[in-house]
Amino acid sequence: MSCNRAIYILIFLFGNLANCGNSSSSTNIYENAEQLISSLNKELSKLRADFSASKTEETVHPPSCLAAMINTNGIYTIWVPGLKPFPVACDTRTAGAGWTVIQRRQDGSENFYRSWSEYQTGFGQLDGEFFIGLEKLHYITNAEPYELYIHLEDFDGETHYAKYDRFVVANESDSYALSQLGRFTGDAGDSLRYHVGKPFSTFDNDKTGQNCALANVGAWWYNHCQHSNLNGQYVVGGNYERKLTGRGICWKTWRGYDYGYKHTQMMIRPRCRSSFSRS
Ligand SMILES: *[C@@H]1O[C@H](CO)[C@@H](O)[C@H](O)[C@H]1NC(C)=O
Ligand SMILES: *[C@@H]1O[C@H](CO)[C@@H](O)[C@H](O)[C@H]1NC(C)=O
Repeated sequence: MSCNRAIYILIFLFGNLANCGNSSSSTNIYENAEQLISSLNKELSKLRADFSASKTEETVHPPSCLAAMINTNGIYTIWVPGLKPFPVACDTRTAGAGWTVIQRRQDGSENFYRSWSEYQTGFGQLDGEFFIGLEKLHYITNAEPYELYIHLEDFDGETHYAKYDRFVVANESDSYALSQLGRFTGDAGDSLRYHVGKPFSTFDNDKTGQNCALANVGAWWYNHCQHSNLNGQYVVGGNYERKLTGRGICWKTWRGYDYGYKHTQMMIRPRCRSSFSRS
């Protein structure tokens, strides 16, 4: 809008100056011109300030952990179009460089049985257990093509992974549905395919029609209901009573429905430059 105003001022200014053949009114015109030039200058410096402010935000903060070109784990501020800059946990050790951690379970210190609005904004500690938040997940995964890496570790210290070469989370009006999931690779089996296209559900906003979030004591892209439940209950030791089936941190295709993992980490990374790092 300020740009339009500057253009109007310019047109008015040149229109007036073009009229300067009448010498008796020329003094007036020059007075007008001076005023116009001064307000034009103000307008220009405002434009310049706006431009450099947006420029700074963009150049000071990279759009992802990958773009940050870091080679150590830590918390960095990123800038994603549509959002204000925010801190994220970057992981460079689990599966190569450039991964942004979107969910982590490691000791049961954080409550993951939370409401819709808490899942929307995210919760927990970036250096501990947390969920990044559905709103951020939507903006990040729509800014450029992303891949997803799910790291699982059981209580015997064994690790497996599931990787997908595309991962897109829909917007709020589509209930942050798992709208796209790419080709699977990994040794944990594919327990997420079953959830593609499904909206996210929490106990207070369940889209499944059968209270899957309540039944599985979690929050997920539940179908009827689940093959995975990574926001389920943290069960120390992994094995749990049969009546609790599926309620733990479940990934069916590795240790089935009666086991909850010790450590999970969901991570995303822009896909187009993934060839720069290993794995
Ligand atoms: C010049 O400007 C004066 C004052 O504005 C006006 O009275 C006059 O008619 C103008 N003359 C011409 C030729 O435009
Ligand atoms: C949400 O996404 C859908 C599908 O891309 C789109 O049609 C809709 O306009 C979006 N809603 C908002 C509020 O952005």
